[in-house]
Amino acid sequence: MFYRIMRSCLFKLHPEKAHDLTIKMLKLTSGTFLELFYRQKVQHRPIKVMGLTFPNAIGLAAGLDKNGECIDGFGAMGFGHIEIGTVTPVAQPGNPEPRLFRVLESEGIINRMGFNNNGVDELIANVRDSHYKGVIGINIGKNFSTPVEEGKNDYLKCMNKVYQHAGYIAVNISSPNTPGLRTLQYGEALEELLAALKERQGELKIKYNKYVPLALKVAPDLSDEEIESIANALLKYKIDGLIATNTTLDREIIKGMSHASEAGGLSGRPVQSKSTVVIGKFAAHLKGEIPIIGVGGIDSVIAAKEKIDAGASLVQIYSGFIYNGPELVKKIANYI
Ligand SMILES: Cc1cc2nc3c(=O)[nH]c(=O)nc-3n(C[C@H](O)[C@H](O)[C@H](O)COP(=O)(O)O)c2cc1C
Repeated sequence: MFYRIMRSCLFKLHPEKAHDLTIKMLKLTSGTFLELFYRQKVQHRPIKVMGLTFPNAIGLAAGLDKNGECIDGFGAMGFGHIEIGTVTPVAQPGNPEPRLFRVLESEGIINRMGFNNNGVDELIANVRDSHYKGVIGINIGKNFSTPVEEGKNDYLKCMNKVYQHAGYIAVNISSPNTPGLRTLQYGEALEELLAALKERQGELKIKYNKYVPLALKVAPDLSDEEIESIANALLKYKIDGLIATNTTLDREIIKGMSHASEAGGLSGRPVQSKSTVVIGKFAAHLKGEIPIIGVGGIDSVIAAKEKIDAGASLVQIYSGFIYNGPELVKKIANYI
């Protein structure tokens, strides 16, 4: 009820203004009595994935809290894990505004944010300040100004810094808004990246006496051959998890709807079935050897269950949270 009122106010604002205001409000109110407006008790249903114990199966997807400013606020809503980022080695402004659009007819979102973030050092300081008891995933990427051929170095720089502060590290090579980034999903470029990350993980494990799992985040726009080749690379390099999926470039399903021709990645209900299909195909190749975190268009318990049935062990939400609010977290936490 409270979120329905909030939403009707927030949806009167431009999406990015609404986002910034929400982050500000969460930051200001978490840890105060005003938290009562969004704090909720959810059932404790611990689940072990990638060697970590998650308090429940529902997480916040990357991109909503890019700098990790509201970890405790989102934690109060009952999320079992919170993926912050994408963070890059150095702060960057992202793409020019406007860069965020609601596709109201289909409860979708189009974004071309372009990894706007305050840099890895600030994110780490925020993680240090948080009191959240769930699992914190840190999603890493490359700076816009770093040529894609040197992208590997940015991932390693981020990894060095976030390793000791992360529950798991998500490697984002699937944002459509950083030119060339998605080419890292294919062939030699992918193998070279995974080999370097795995080697660094081994070194950091010794340094910190702590094993931090690595999960690769992929796009939904992949052919069957590409899915098979990524799955083989994940198995070959013993990557700990797969996050499927990011946003889609496909506009077929929202043809004629508002903002349909805006450039960027489409998320929310329009990507729901596409991402479930991709999860199913990966699951068939990975055969339970590498767990999958399912994300894309989850807007109900049924949609979350479909991801689990397709082969996901955990689920995440972003757009569904924007349209449905904290109640969706509670419903999924309690029923999945
Ligand atoms: C505004 C916006 C910003 C996003 N930023 C990121 C990001 O920085 N890193 C990332 O890995 N995914 C990012 N995503 C993708 C989401 O994490 C998620 O994979 C995708 O939106 C599909 O889930 P959904 O349909 O529940 O939104 C972003 C999504 C949106 C809508």
